[in-house]
Amino acid sequence: MDLFEIKGPVQLEGSVNISGSKNAALPIMASTVLAPGKSIIRGAPNLADISVLAKLLRSLGAKVKSNAGSKLRIDASVIDNPVGHYDTVRKMRASICILGPLLARCGQAKVSMPGGCAIGDRPVDIHLRGLRGLGAQIHLENGYIVAEAPHGLAGTDIFLGGPFGSTVLGTANVLMAATLAKGTTVIESAACEPEIADLANCLNKMGAKIRGIGSPRLIIDGVDSLSPVEHTVIPDRVEAGTFMAAAAITAGRVELKNCRLNDMMAVVDKFSGIGAQIEPTDNGCVVSRDGPLKPADITTQPYPGFPTDLQAQLMVLLALADGNSVITEKIFPDRFMHVAELNRMAANLRKEGPSVIIAGVKKLIAAPVMASDLRASAALVLAALAAEGTTIINRVYHIDRGYERIEQKLNALGAKITRKTI
Ligand code: EPZ
Repeated sequence: MDLFEIKGPVQLEGSVNISGSKNAALPIMASTVLAPGKSIIRGAPNLADISVLAKLLRSLGAKVKSNAGSKLRIDASVIDNPVGHYDTVRKMRASICILGPLLARCGQAKVSMPGGCAIGDRPVDIHLRGLRGLGAQIHLENGYIVAEAPHGLAGTDIFLGGPFGSTVLGTANVLMAATLAKGTTVIESAACEPEIADLANCLNKMGAKIRGIGSPRLIIDGVDSLSPVEHTVIPDRVEAGTFMAAAAITAGRVELKNCRLNDMMAVVDKFSGIGAQIEPTDNGCVVSRDGPLKPADITTQPYPGFPTDLQAQLMVLLALADGNSVITEKIFPDRFMHVAELNRMAANLRKEGPSVIIAGVKKLIAAPVMASDLRASAALVLAALAAEGTTIINRVYHIDRGYERIEQKLNALGAKITRKTI
């Protein structure tokens, strides 16, 4: 088990290259199951979650090779074991995104229910509603989703909205299945996240016929087959937002390369509003802060609203703002594992139902803290960069799931992070 020892406060200076998007790469890797043959996915980040999905694809029958240059070679010529085992799915809930491709390719699939995690329940009822709409027969058996479509899938109109808005991976599953359904499918209330647009663009390169990409209404004309693809995933907007927050909280000046500001309008708006300066450049931006951090109220929403995956990082910034702020979490109402840990570092946060009241303090103080979900853990790193003293963050494997070499990237900017194995 690894831990981070982080000395603060520091001021970050320099430039950082943003990696490819984990949340685009995962469904795109799953989509290669739809096409017999050899696909190449470029720009996938070198992360634990990517390795877990690669292992899962191998268990389905695919051959997966990854090299240091973040190029994945996936040969899905043979998919002869359409089963996603509990041991893999419980490690990474995103594994659920093999359900749709397996159903479309093999006419059957057996995938473990994801179960809950540190950010709360992870239901898949909307995934199943959508796949049933395409004609799949689905039942639950000993914690597994058993899905069958012996006569193939048939296009239809499907509403994918839920109590918390759209579903990102639910849209991915139904979209991928619909590409090989007979007839046309309309997905209403589809997720509009850039990662879904990247998946749809990749599917169209494979021969799918998808319209309305980036909008809440996707129209898919089913085709008989898809071909293998070469695709480069989009940059990771959540990693970019995390490094923006790192520059702002340390009052430094950091250039982000390979970052698409168009995917982050809500983030740029909010971070600028609380005192960060974000200057666009050719392939990213320069982030700095020379004045005080200002309080704000924010509610997380489906894209293009403020992303839940940057809620914890914003909270750390607001913990040091001149005044009181409120963050309301509308996507995962329990996603506040970082609140108690930040209070251990002298933040003044109070949870009130789906909101946290943040009373700004002058400084944070180093303390031993515990990582939990991957974004909350990244927020603890940000807090440690600004805190006085040496912070110990335990269980950093959570961070390794979503951030490629985060301590190397931050140390290159002037951070003082030591990874220790205990
Ligand atoms: C994706 O998860 C991301 N993961 C999450 O990022 C992200 O936080 C989330 O979308 C929301 O943007 C990947 O893309 C791999 P949802 P996903 O289905 O698709 C409810 C990270 O840190 N819901 O959009 O699993 C659900 O409970 C991760 O990188 C249902 O009710 O999330 C939640 O409240 C964490 N029924 C809301 O919808 C369903 O069938 C949004 O969930 C599905 C979801």
